[in-house]
Amino acid sequence: MQIAKTITEARAMRSTTPGKVALIPTMGALHDGHLSLVAEAFNYADEVIFYIFVNPTQFAPHEDFDSYPRNIDDDLAKLASVGISKVFMPTVDEIYPPENVPFEIDVPNLNDILEGKHRPHFFGGVCRVLTKMFNIIQPHYAIFGQKDYQQLQIITALVRDTNMPINIIGAPIIRESDGLAMSSRNVYLSEEERTHATALYKALQQAKNLIETAGETDPAAVESAMHDILSAHNFKIDYATVRHPHTLQPLDCIEPNLTGGVVALIAAHLGNTRLIDNMIIASPKNDA
Ligand code: PAF
Repeated sequence: MQIAKTITEARAMRSTTPGKVALIPTMGALHDGHLSLVAEAFNYADEVIFYIFVNPTQFAPHEDFDSYPRNIDDDLAKLASVGISKVFMPTVDEIYPPENVPFEIDVPNLNDILEGKHRPHFFGGVCRVLTKMFNIIQPHYAIFGQKDYQQLQIITALVRDTNMPINIIGAPIIRESDGLAMSSRNVYLSEEERTHATALYKALQQAKNLIETAGETDPAAVESAMHDILSAHNFKIDYATVRHPHTLQPLDCIEPNLTGGVVALIAAHLGNTRLIDNMIIASPKNDA
């Protein structure tokens, strides 16, 4: 396996990679959800470059940057098992040299709602690191999980608005057998919290049933049903809401024929662990 640790090495790795190249950006602590991105990437590209970088600029000082799970040896073994042979693994100083003047990327409209409202620094940090990584690797494709739904919309907007010649591909959410979406943060859950965590999926399914089967058109009724399920399982809710699938703005009414359906999104805390999940509803491309 070829491992690049510096930007110079990453550029050399990229320049000797022929054909169409896909980049898979991650913060490591890999699970089957990340590995499914590899199969998705090979549907589009001849070669895949994988990066592992826990990005400090998307964490607030009170968040879990220091304790974020890091299992490099395990990650590299998993990557080798799914056919990855090129990995970029820079240090923080390599990506953010202390002498650099930091450049902020603002994401108006999408940054002050949902995740952006609860984690105001988050999307600026994500856009900043991805702009760097896209410039370093210059991939034809970049693959992201749909679990971070708002992040996927923002990255798509970033690439479109800055005219980067990169196709952003969203890959389906991968779930455990009881419905919990795979996440590197699931390891924080105690045994008891893990049994309650499946309520996220139950709440999303309830939203789907209400809209698709019962014909509910009032977003407030759907949101209230999601809140009831989450509260019954000890979740402290940041948001549990039904939104327009692209603008992520609130809806007055759920129109069954709304192009692309609607998206139900949840962010909630179970003990000290914050989990997010989502589901596209009433669209021909359902995540069920
Ligand atoms: O989704 C993630 O793991 C991170 O936000 C990303 C896209 C790798 C940027 O640090």
